[in-house]
Amino acid sequence: MGAAIEEIRKIVTYGVMAPSGDNCQPWAFRLKGDLLEVIDDRTKDTSFYNFRNTASYIAHGALLENLRIASSALGFSMEEAIFPEGEEGLIVASIRFSKAPPKNEPLFPFIDKRCTNRFKYNGAPLTDEARRGLLASINSIAGAELALAEGRAKKIAAKAASQNDRILFEHRGLHDFLFDHIRWSAEEAEATRDGMDIRTLGLDPVQQRLFPLLKSWGILKLLNSVGLSRMVPHQSYMLCSGSSAMGLVQVKGSDPRAFLDGGRAVQRVWLTASMLGLSLQPMTGILFLLNRLYNESDSIGSSYRIMLKRAEALLKEAFSLKPGYTPVMLFRLGIGRTPRVSSLRKAIELKA
Ligand SMILES: Cc1cc2nc3c(=O)[nH]c(=O)nc-3n(C[C@H](O)[C@H](O)[C@H](O)COP(=O)(O)O)c2cc1C
Repeated sequence: MGAAIEEIRKIVTYGVMAPSGDNCQPWAFRLKGDLLEVIDDRTKDTSFYNFRNTASYIAHGALLENLRIASSALGFSMEEAIFPEGEEGLIVASIRFSKAPPKNEPLFPFIDKRCTNRFKYNGAPLTDEARRGLLASINSIAGAELALAEGRAKKIAAKAASQNDRILFEHRGLHDFLFDHIRWSAEEAEATRDGMDIRTLGLDPVQQRLFPLLKSWGILKLLNSVGLSRMVPHQSYMLCSGSSAMGLVQVKGSDPRAFLDGGRAVQRVWLTASMLGLSLQPMTGILFLLNRLYNESDSIGSSYRIMLKRAEALLKEAFSLKPGYTPVMLFRLGIGRTPRVSSLRKAIELKA
């Protein structure tokens, strides 16, 4: 027997707790009878980072993994067709849920606890149990690999990740998109239910007061002329090198399906980290910029190409990059204080 509309809605509520770049939530849903279609809403993530829609596919992969875990825990099996109209189409998946005995899904209780923690972590080394748990978390996803960098390798990966921030502060498109997605007050966050609440950015009280000034491209340019954009990578370097480990999820291939699988894997690693009491923050902008460099190098200013090549060399030194695999997510992991503010999600519309 298929799931009723309210049961589908409940499962989707868990689905959309998935992470997405700048909390854009690049999805929409359509119900055809009891068939749920997950649609890629291309109007949502228009960031320069979202090269060839790859950031959105990672978010969709995370959403699909949430749907799979939640439906199984709530007593449904999930039959899915991925890209039923082809990879160019907007339908990411069409899904039918059927009643089945509920299964024990250890990651289910962590779907609504997972969050991006942008605060400083305490740098305690990973325990053997945590390392084993994280590495095993993606065994169910064929073609996905997790690599962890600790000790010296972690510092090298930290250096690679931090290169992103200079470009973030100097690229008008990246700047404008980021600042358009910051919600400056609890009221604004509640009104839009997307984007990032300023209180989730891990800023100290002084930074929180100064940050709104950077919204103005003119002021930022002035500050960059006296060295701001060259200093910001140091801050993310310190955050990454002071974590327990840097992690990299890679997937076989580089087509949209590979990024969906990558998103599924990322979600499993992230939920497992939550289960193990570990915080996680994607530090992944550099991977999207590298993807541009490989595929559309003209869209990257010549002054940044050398910097990106250097970041690529550092990533190769920190992790063993597998031939034929694409790095989809770089992140830091560790023990940090629990953020007090959660990011919100838009209400679910199940259009007929
Ligand atoms: C593809 C992708 C890329 C992301 N990149 C970053 C990043 O570079 N830095 C960061 O702090 N968060 C990053 N995030 C996390 C999102 O900003 C976050 O998931 C979103 O704001 C919702 O918040 P939540 O994860 O706490 O639910 C990324 C998430 C995804 C799915």
